[in-house]
Amino acid sequence: MHWQQKLIHLFLLAVTFTGASQVPLTPSVNVGARSWLSRPWNERPSEDAMGNLVFQSLSSLMQMMPNSKHPFGHSIVRAIIPKGTLLYHGTFLGTCPSMDWMALDAEHAMIFTFGANGTLFTYTTTRDIQLVYFDGCSGNDVPGVIDTQDLLIWGEPGRRGHRSEDWMAEEVDRLVDGCAWAKQHGIDGFLRMEFDFEIMYCDLTQGLKLVSSTPTVNPWANYEPTKPSMAGVPESRAEDPRAMVPPQGPRLPSDQCSPEATFHGLTKARLTERNHRKQGQTVGNNFPPYSYPNGWKGNLPVLDLEAFHAGTWHNQFPGEPRVYIDHSSMITLFDPSLTSLVEARRSMTRDEYRAANLSKADITHVRADIAEVMARDPFTGSGVDWQGLARVIQERFADRLPFMQHLLHQPEVNVTAQLTRVRRQLIISLIPYMHRENVGEPEWFAEIAHRCAARFTDHLPRAEFTKQERVLHHATEEVLHEVCRVYTEAWVEAFDAEEKSIPVVQGYLEKWKGQFDSLVAWLDWPVWIKCDPPCGVDEVCRVSQGAPWDPDSGHEPRCMPIDLEKFVFPPGSV
Ligand SMILES: *[C@@H]1O[C@H](CO)[C@@H](O)[C@H](O)[C@H]1NC(C)=O
Ligand SMILES: *[C@@H]1O[C@H](CO)[C@@H](O)[C@H](O)[C@H]1NC(C)=O
Ligand SMILES: *[C@@H]1O[C@H](CO)[C@@H](O)[C@H](O)[C@H]1NC(C)=O
Repeated sequence: MHWQQKLIHLFLLAVTFTGASQVPLTPSVNVGARSWLSRPWNERPSEDAMGNLVFQSLSSLMQMMPNSKHPFGHSIVRAIIPKGTLLYHGTFLGTCPSMDWMALDAEHAMIFTFGANGTLFTYTTTRDIQLVYFDGCSGNDVPGVIDTQDLLIWGEPGRRGHRSEDWMAEEVDRLVDGCAWAKQHGIDGFLRMEFDFEIMYCDLTQGLKLVSSTPTVNPWANYEPTKPSMAGVPESRAEDPRAMVPPQGPRLPSDQCSPEATFHGLTKARLTERNHRKQGQTVGNNFPPYSYPNGWKGNLPVLDLEAFHAGTWHNQFPGEPRVYIDHSSMITLFDPSLTSLVEARRSMTRDEYRAANLSKADITHVRADIAEVMARDPFTGSGVDWQGLARVIQERFADRLPFMQHLLHQPEVNVTAQLTRVRRQLIISLIPYMHRENVGEPEWFAEIAHRCAARFTDHLPRAEFTKQERVLHHATEEVLHEVCRVYTEAWVEAFDAEEKSIPVVQGYLEKWKGQFDSLVAWLDWPVWIKCDPPCGVDEVCRVSQGAPWDPDSGHEPRCMPIDLEKFVFPPGSV
């Protein structure tokens, strides 16, 4: 099935038819007892270690590719969109909303601007907009991706076992109940990600000014449901167009916006009614006949898939550039103190980890943390730029680690030459941490590993950390400790390996290969997600999100035609 058809199915056909509680917070990470700096330099992280996952989430925030690779989000974090930013709302009803969905890219909003009343509204923010961001594919509305929202709103992260028939009406519930929560905390809305970023906006009369309202040029612009189908369009394509086009209007004067919460213009009652009417009907690939605007000449293509294209603009760090994340408020469910999830993960693969596995007690803890975070002003933490730090750490090793793997995976032609190159790489990475005293002694190696692990985190102002920053700090320490352990363990052997026999060196190289391979797999850094070879000028790189857009065939980045219309899913992928 074409994406285009999928979108039209979803948005055209388918559419036609508590406050802060006095409960204990999560136990604080006990920095003294758990600090990596007090542990032996060559101690390995435990099987339950979560530092890699916390670090990975932190470095992935607001980026399309890593959040598409791992659709089940684990972070709840405050975010701000500054004054003067454009936001878009597209509607096929021509009515302006008061509580509804907004897009950051016009291409995204324009999916909804079909039909005679199709209108693109453009707003500007008149102040900082306060949002709560859920990472992963949180806008996709399938089980797993919405766990963190349902945890925040209802305290029921596993609320949804499957995507219900009435999911659009449920989205309105999520908006209404979410906004009731948001109102208590001075939050303007929720930020989510599907094929592009979107906002569930709680009150469009607050913090926004309408700057433009455009009746759109679209292929159904002149379509009247009551008119017979356009001449030349086969009757089979337009079986009963009246069933296909959503109920329209009435058009309200621009100062009289819909007072109710709406899902792209439709109230819950209307969505439910349409859904019931739809039941029993087979929804085919029958689209209403095209009906171009008066005066239009030539073909007018359907451009909905440009919304997917716009999403790829936010693929990599810094991702969506209009959003500022308050890292000091980043609540992560990879927090090792949430033991119910730690236990659940033991029998799961990374792709299965989800918030639904939280115990009742841990749900209470997390919700208390959320209340505590929302009770303080945003950006009240230490001021450390955690995502910037995570980026600096990744950059230092992002090309060196794969290069090291490349060297270690060379066929055994000349072991001496291979050792020389690997040894050079070990020195390059560790030399800033080497002292000239005690060279070659056991304490010299221990000191190298210790300095390597501590350099980026030791000086940070711990006393000023929020509870959430302590989790980030611990995770960053854990990641660096492991990177530095693997490098230093290899260095201990490589130091005098040039004096060793060929079979001994061969054994070392084999061992290091395994160590570096495991390290790279454990880290799974977002900086490594890319199309390889790079895409051409006529392509974009995209990571599949799985349901509901893609078949469940993994999350490998793929180059796709920039002219996405030509992209067709493999058979059986509907
Ligand atoms: C557009 O809205 C008007 C009311 O404002 C309504 O009469 C008309 O039917 C709508 N157009 C379509 C195609 O439904
Ligand atoms: C985790 O949650 C999923 C979905 O609710 C459930 O199927 C699974 O059994 C749970 N696993 C554990 C270990 O709790
Ligand atoms: C292996 O490489 C080293 C260093 O590059 C070189 O001196 C030596 O001649 C090479 N040995 C063989 C057998 O090619």
